[in-house]
Amino acid sequence: MSIMHNVITHNSYWYSGLDGVPDRPGLQSTVNTEVAIIGGGITGLTAALCLQNEGKDVVLIDAGSIGSGTSGATSAQINVHPDQGAKALIDKHGLEHSKLITQARREAIDQIEKWVKKFKIDCEFARVPSFSYTEHRNRLGDLKQEFEHLSELGLKVALTPQCDLPFPIQGAVRAENQARFHPLKYLNGLADIFIERGGRIYENTRAQPPRQGKPCIIQTAEGEILADDVLVCTHSAYLGISIFDLKVAPYQSYIIAVRIEQDFPDGLYWDDDDPYHYMRLLDPQNPNLVLIGGADHKTGQLEHEQDAWAKLESYARDRMKVLEVVTRWSGEYFEPDDGLPYVGKVPTMSNVYIATGFLGTGLTFGTMAGHMLSEQVMGRTGPLSSILSTSRVSPIAASVNFVSENTNVAWHFVTDRFKGEKLEQFETIANNCGQLIVHDGKQIAAYRDDMGQLFLLNPTCTHAGCHVHWNDAERTWDCPCHGGRYAPDGKRLYGPPTKDLASIDPNQIRGEVRE
Ligand code: FES
Repeated sequence: MSIMHNVITHNSYWYSGLDGVPDRPGLQSTVNTEVAIIGGGITGLTAALCLQNEGKDVVLIDAGSIGSGTSGATSAQINVHPDQGAKALIDKHGLEHSKLITQARREAIDQIEKWVKKFKIDCEFARVPSFSYTEHRNRLGDLKQEFEHLSELGLKVALTPQCDLPFPIQGAVRAENQARFHPLKYLNGLADIFIERGGRIYENTRAQPPRQGKPCIIQTAEGEILADDVLVCTHSAYLGISIFDLKVAPYQSYIIAVRIEQDFPDGLYWDDDDPYHYMRLLDPQNPNLVLIGGADHKTGQLEHEQDAWAKLESYARDRMKVLEVVTRWSGEYFEPDDGLPYVGKVPTMSNVYIATGFLGTGLTFGTMAGHMLSEQVMGRTGPLSSILSTSRVSPIAASVNFVSENTNVAWHFVTDRFKGEKLEQFETIANNCGQLIVHDGKQIAAYRDDMGQLFLLNPTCTHAGCHVHWNDAERTWDCPCHGGRYAPDGKRLYGPPTKDLASIDPNQIRGEVRE
């Protein structure tokens, strides 16, 4: 394996078929702009185009390439079904607010469709139905209840005994007018339009969190961006240590692409397991290629991430004739404490805006948030601004400590791993493997690459000091506290950390390190 920096989802199917996408240069100097956007995913690009349409001068930067974070790892199911279920949404936030949120997500799909048509973006966008199904007869009552709550939210839904899946189900709720697309073709299409109209995009440009001021300053390796307003559209909060570390929790969801014997129907599908499985036709040119996702868990808190892919493969083989597994990847998402994203000005900062906590429905929430942030920069607010305010008080007292409790669990999860590992011989680490080691009382994250070269790292996450965990599926160091992820050699890839893991000079390790 070669180490790819700044692209965490390189096995994602969406990277195939991207011929002709140009490399966009990195920032090499200091630039001035009205609005700077950190993050080239769906939120950042939506905001960039909206603000450009308002006449703003906009600069967008990304630490990797356009869509190289979770936007390039999504299942690309574009739907308005509440991720936590309609009942939970209404119970937590009331019917009126839940309807407003649902309407905003519906408008987000309309917005995507409008731009696809207006800019002629060839990205496989199509309106398709969605099906929330159960394979369990004893859960049909819950399914009927969900149908009723979805109807209350204003969705056009129907109960149906079947949904064209190539295996039997007990029933489903069908919703019309949902959608699917190829996310990286869509985002690169938006990026091309933005640049054609005078916008500036700098890829492979890792920034430090913005410094509040007039202007705000974003420091990068090769230059600075001086901006009147800054939008942090990095999915997780990229502000150093911030209040959002206590408001959103990181999760990892897994995806496999399989070729099956028969054609798969063109719709969006998910079941009622916990965590749920989701499926869609992956590529309209290959009607027997299916995307299957699920096996979610808190980032950095599964002992063997390989097991997640194995579970998905079993799920597929138990239900369909699988000819081959084409590729496998995962994506990270962030769950907010009260079940709704945070969108708006960062508390205590007057010119810095953020959007985070999109759950597993980031394409609609990201589009919605990009539009909302652009409106707020222009001085316009609506009812959603207060519902999704970054300084809102959670309606559920019990949720106040939910992430801090998670963080304690996360701390112990990795610390306990160290206790069990008393390796004295680094040579037992196989090629392409990482391991947490206590050597002469010193905690070390050790990785040996495919050529046998050993990398020794300080396992202390550079964000807030938790210990990282070795992810044996994607060969990354993952932080269980707030979802930071690092390449095997310690380079920062994703999440709240701003710096790489610190290297340890093998010569500093007492005793012989044999390579
Ligand atoms: Fe926060 Fe690692 S991501 S401590």
